[in-house]
Amino acid sequence: MSFSNYVERKGTDSRKWDLNGMLEMASYADDESIPMWVADMDFKAPEFVQDALLKRVEHGVFGYNTADKKYYEGIKFWLKNRNDWDIEEYWIVPTSGVVPALCYAIKAFTEHGDGVVVQNPVYPPFRNSVEINGREVVSNPLKLAGDRYEMDFDDLEKKLANPKNKMLILCSPHNPIGRVWTKNELEKVVSLCLKYKKIIVSDEIHSDLILFKNKFVSVGTLNREIKKYLIVCTSISKTFNLAGLKASNIIIPDSDLRERFINEMSKVAAKPVPNIFGAIAMEQCYSKEGERWLEDLIVYLEDNYLFLKDYLEKRLPKIKCFPLEGTYLAWIDFRELNLTEEELRFKLEEEAKIVTDGGGIFGAEGVGFIRLNFACHRSVLEKALERLEKSFENI
Ligand SMILES: Cc1ncc(COP(=O)(O)O)c(C=O)c1O
Repeated sequence: MSFSNYVERKGTDSRKWDLNGMLEMASYADDESIPMWVADMDFKAPEFVQDALLKRVEHGVFGYNTADKKYYEGIKFWLKNRNDWDIEEYWIVPTSGVVPALCYAIKAFTEHGDGVVVQNPVYPPFRNSVEINGREVVSNPLKLAGDRYEMDFDDLEKKLANPKNKMLILCSPHNPIGRVWTKNELEKVVSLCLKYKKIIVSDEIHSDLILFKNKFVSVGTLNREIKKYLIVCTSISKTFNLAGLKASNIIIPDSDLRERFINEMSKVAAKPVPNIFGAIAMEQCYSKEGERWLEDLIVYLEDNYLFLKDYLEKRLPKIKCFPLEGTYLAWIDFRELNLTEEELRFKLEEEAKIVTDGGGIFGAEGVGFIRLNFACHRSVLEKALERLEKSFENI
């Protein structure tokens, strides 16, 4: 697969590229805007996935489906091979997305009014899922040490020690700040959850997108005791650019937790069965061939990130691209320009015609930053950076 082939996405009902979708995020957007916001990539899914889907489409009957042994074996293979995590197939609960799974977990394991700890700045649906289900968002903000974010373990301990707070939602790797948490950091998180007997939902959706030889550690491979409190969210959606297939898997080792989670799903009539096309895609992706495709993707992403960082350092040194360990989402610091969120948004969207995610949507701690999705063709990134330079060079 060559990631250097440009793929036109306009006119495909793309939430990212088609104006109707983009306007939800950017009121100044128009047909000239370059979308660098929502987290999907502008690359085609692997050819072997496309072929398998086409073959299934040709059959022409799309009735209720189930998942066979190959489906579960594929996930088991992937998690063992990549993360050295040995799971049992029956721990796997297919869901139609990670965000719905967060909601099921919140409803299954906490009560109305309970606190759920999240680490701002963080992927906004973490907070939304807590709020719309009538629970309270409890923030354990990440600490900024220079250009590196770290967890505030003293504050985390205080929050987890409070009997009202029942759950931690961990973003690992962390969107939007791009940290891949170290084993040491994760061990501290796990030991605090064990100490205070709190559920840990580890959203590992970005765990295959590890850059520059950083090492991803799944919470599932740490202290065995954590299994009693553990929910791990995985998916093919980010890794293989298949978000529209709505196929994810939630790994729940403890039988009581798993049963409660599935009961919660059944309240909205959602059976733990994968989407028919999602299942076919997943069987293809979670393979040696999938791994080779991913290796090539990582090279393209690393090059794009380095290009972006280098461009900003040379041409717009007041705008700082933070170090990135994982994901294809760059966290960019505009604080030196002293612009309000609205001024920054105006300059980016109306002047430069680039649509990114303003840092404030990730929590107040993100104000002054943007999240920029660089999983695009290099020419698109170049064009966006030229526009950015033109719009900001005199500031
Ligand atoms: C951390 C994180 N979790 C979940 C999701 C979305 O998952 P899904 O589309 O499976 O609901 C995203 C998408 O950007 C994400 O970054």
